[in-house]
Amino acid sequence: MSDPPAIVLPIIPAQQGEYLTVAIDEALRHHGPVSYSQLTTNEARRAVPRAVTTDALALHAPVDEDVTLVARMMDVPDDAERPAQIVATWREHWDEHGYGTWIVRDAHGSSAGFVGLRGHAEFIRLTLRMLEGPGSEDLGARALRLATAHAIEWLPDLPVRIRIAPEDAATLSAVRSAGLVRVPELDHTSEEGDWHVLELPYVRVAERTPPRAREAMLAMWLEVTEAGGSVGFLPGASEEDVAPVLDGYSAGMASGDTVCVSLNSPLGELLGFGFLVGSTGPLTRHGANIERIMTDPARRGTNYGALLMAGVHRAARERGVELVTLDYRGGTGLGEFYTQYGYTEVGRVPGALRVAPGDDRDGVIMARSL
Ligand SMILES: CC(C)(COP(=O)(O)OP(=O)(O)OC[C@H]1O[C@@H](n2cnc3c(N)ncnc32)[C@H](O)[C@@H]1OP(=O)(O)O)[C@@H](O)C(=O)NCCC(=O)NCCS
Repeated sequence: MSDPPAIVLPIIPAQQGEYLTVAIDEALRHHGPVSYSQLTTNEARRAVPRAVTTDALALHAPVDEDVTLVARMMDVPDDAERPAQIVATWREHWDEHGYGTWIVRDAHGSSAGFVGLRGHAEFIRLTLRMLEGPGSEDLGARALRLATAHAIEWLPDLPVRIRIAPEDAATLSAVRSAGLVRVPELDHTSEEGDWHVLELPYVRVAERTPPRAREAMLAMWLEVTEAGGSVGFLPGASEEDVAPVLDGYSAGMASGDTVCVSLNSPLGELLGFGFLVGSTGPLTRHGANIERIMTDPARRGTNYGALLMAGVHRAARERGVELVTLDYRGGTGLGEFYTQYGYTEVGRVPGALRVAPGDDRDGVIMARSL
């Protein structure tokens, strides 16, 4: 069997204030349904993709031709001054920061709107604007889910916030589906009117488990298990069953092999977590295993799984990990979940897991390079 192609994001040296775009076609990375391309470097000189593509849509950095989209949205002629200024400002932001506003293209390659990402001193402002038309709300929501996961994985570690007019129900629904949470104390009024502010959950990478965190993780692990999640136990498992396994991870954290990656709401609630377990063998130090990925069962389908995976990948890259593996219980659909984030099945042990008499499941191993 031939080796899978190596998928490595190169670090590209940049002159001060200058961001390089590398060979677009050669750099196209296929990670299952999401592919990254047009790598550039950010302020920390890390490689960041300028384009993200899925079967349903593509996000790409603006080019001069995108003036047409902006003019259409503003309902002014293509050669009006303002659209050209807006696109120029977007391009300057990309040049300065290595990220910025994405143009959203649909599956046919037509420009359908934009997702703004603009850096401020203390936060990154998110905006969403789609051309009206059939399917545009769904496309906008998908674009926002991708852009928010991208922000967690690649952008400066700042709060990501969006402000919405209270009556803008369509944007609110897209924003909620991407996992943002209202933070009422950030609500404000400007010349344009009242704004509600929503913020993206943040990722915390921990090397120890304070008692309060242990309590919240144990409670979530038990709830996820009770709801049928495949995180090592079967419904009915007790605190006495799960706690020693959780404490085993804490011991791994204390010895420096393991980190806990958690997703937390802006208000500090635990939304999900998982562990990144480093490999200690001399030949495998560039690898790590991802274990016990879980999100709050009461809040599934709001992008938290995607945001958590993005946070795990970021944490892994920051620790010099180049290859990640994981395993899941066959017959759960989880292979599709992980395929979305670039994983490929690399092995399967038939009947490795006995979940009930007469119900043996495969243990499935997946891997991806970072
Ligand atoms: C797997 C899990 C972490 C996903 O979390 P989530 O919060 O539902 O994920 P998201 O809302 O970010 O969903 C991301 C995408 O994955 C899909 N997805 C989510 N769970 C899935 C599953 N079990 N099987 C297949 N696809 C799944 C969603 O439909 C969504 O796709 P879309 O954007 O095309 O609609 C969560 O279901 C969970 O905690 N499960 C129980 C624990 C478990 O079994 N963990 C796996 C350990 S190996």
